[in-house]
Parts: sequence; structure tokens; C-alpha cells
Amino acid sequence: MIDAISFNEGTLRYLDQRYLPLREEHISTKDHREAIEAIKTLAVRGAPLIGVAAAYTVILGINSYRGDKEGFPCFFGNLIADVEASRPTAVNLFFATKKLKAVYDRNFNSDSLEVLFAKMLFEARQIHDDEIANCDAMAQHGVRQIREDLAEILKTRKLNVLTHCNTGTLATGGSGTALGVIKLAWQEGLIEKVITAESRPLLQGLRLTAWELEQEKIPFFSISDSSSAFLMQRGMIDFGIVGADRIAANGDTANKIGTCAHALSAWHHNIPFYIAAPVSTIDITLSDGTQIPIEERSADELRTIFGTQVATSTTPVINYAFDVTPGKFLRGIITDKKAVVGDYLNGLGQLFAE
Ligand code: MRU
Repeated sequence: MIDAISFNEGTLRYLDQRYLPLREEHISTKDHREAIEAIKTLAVRGAPLIGVAAAYTVILGINSYRGDKEGFPCFFGNLIADVEASRPTAVNLFFATKKLKAVYDRNFNSDSLEVLFAKMLFEARQIHDDEIANCDAMAQHGVRQIREDLAEILKTRKLNVLTHCNTGTLATGGSGTALGVIKLAWQEGLIEKVITAESRPLLQGLRLTAWELEQEKIPFFSISDSSSAFLMQRGMIDFGIVGADRIAANGDTANKIGTCAHALSAWHHNIPFYIAAPVSTIDITLSDGTQIPIEERSADELRTIFGTQVATSTTPVINYAFDVTPGKFLRGIITDKKAVVGDYLNGLGQLFAE
């Protein structure tokens, strides 16, 4: 199993995803500023893993605190603000900081700093364990939904599935969101081939998903992002499934840039297209996708490919890291609690009411 992230004896250890699959390097740090940098630079990435990394980053921060109890609230407030400023779109980051702030709010007045820090570490580990368990639950719900929706095709042959970006162990610490569903579907004999869209500009599909599938010995091939409509036209894709960075209450879903184009093509070709994401990725406070903050990254990410400049340094660029797929183009949203299909406003709302 890929060791994406761990926390032991006050040290955060993560697999640096920037150079995979060509260089496999684990980094260890006790410095929360280095951990924040790892999130910003996508050394650690993928919505659930960003949440886990954010929780451990807060632990590194509080471990470095040398002041007295009186000075701690100000230190803690600045620490949370710094962690929250690292990446704006994946709501799992804010889910994690909110959980740690709640531990602080409940216990600060009654506990010594030592006891409070121990409770926060317990909470951070719980967030990590939960994300791993969420993957297994999503895989079960997802496979059940796919068996149901694609039953006709499955009577005669296995399925070819399109996915985008990386949503596997590297993005979650567990088996994955969308890729977790795909892995289980393959184990159950439902999958012929996985098609990984490259996911420009940082190539999470071509580099990371391909690497994970190779390790799992799951048959796949990679395509350029712009190929998916043509493959659908040729009958080479039976369904699509991707992860999410933030889902609004009505099902509108922010995910890696390029997702919306795949979903629209799938809709046009009458091909089911799913989102797989834990409940921690749903932002029930946002009524629709227009309210999701979308990260814009540096122009040089597009002007260069792995350090090699391919456009003039004056080429104007817009580099959104994510897009928003309207819920109406999705066949279903697979969560760790259940698969929600049809009326997302009610279906997702109920997950929070339960
Ligand atoms: O910019 P990244 O690599 O962090 O973006 C990741 C994605 O868009 C994933 O599809 C999403 O986080 C779901 S991960 C399980």
C-alpha cells in the first residue's frame, strides 16, 4: 500500500507527489510552515488528504508553541488562519480546522495546554482514520450503483471507465474516492479498462493515477484531456467517475479543471457520470456552485512543463485549478453514507439531517 501520509512522534511524513512517478521521495518535518508549503505546492494534494495534512499541520504548529496559556489563543488563531490560507477550494481543509477549533473551544478553559494538545492530536488522528474508512464505504455504495445503472451492458461485457485527476490513495490515504470505487469494481470483475485523462497542467491523471493503477495491476490507458468526447463518440467509455473538492447543497461540484467538459460530453452521449466524495467534501452552507471559491494558480504552471518553458514568459494566462460541474449533468453523487441520485438538494440535505 502506498504510504501517502503518516504522523508519528511529533513528525509529519508525506510522499512528495510533485515528482511522482519518476522520483519517489518521502519528506519528514516537524515544522508547520514546511507542511503549509507542502499543501500549497501540491506535494500533498487531493481534497481528503489536504484535510488530513491540514489537521496534522495544526498539531505541528501547536507543538512548536513555547509560550504560556494566556498567549495561546492569539497564537492558535494565527496558526489556523495560516493553515486555512494554504488552498481555498477543497472544503476538507476547513472541515479539519473547524474540528480542531471545536476541540479548542470545548476544552481551553478547563484543560492545561498539555491535555488540550493531546485531545487535538486525538482529533487529528480521528480525521485521518475517518477518511480511510470513508473510502471503503464509498467503494461499496459506488459499485452497487454502477451494477444497477449499467446492468444491461454488464450482461454481455465488462465496462470501460473514464476518470480525471487523481482520487486514489495519494489523494485520500485510503483506497480512494472515485479510484476507490474503480478499484473495488475491478476486483469484482466489472472493469475492462480504466481511462485516465492526463489532467493538465500538473498531470495528476497521467502521473499519479496511472502510477497507482500500475501498482494495483489494473489495466488502463491514458488520454489527453481533450480526447474524452471523441472516445465517447466511438463507444469507448461506458461511464465516468471523478472525485470532488467541494460540493454545493444543490449538487454542483468543484473538481479538477477539465471535469466539467468530460461531464458535458458524457451527458450528450447519455453516459452516466458520477462524483465520489465523502460527506466532508459537501459544503451544505453553499446553495450552488457559483459560491464555491475557485483557486487560481500561477501562470508559470501553464507556461512551463516540468521546468521546461514552453511559452514566452509574457504570455497572458488564466489558470483556474478547478471547474464546477452543474449537478444536473451528474448521474449520482456517491458518498460514504449512501449514493445520492436525482434530487441533490433533498438527498444531500438529508445526509446532514441524519
Ligand atoms: O489540485 P489537486 O491535485 O489537489 O486536485 C485534486 C482533485 O481535484 C481531486 O479530483 C479531488 O480532490 C478529489 S480527491 C479524492
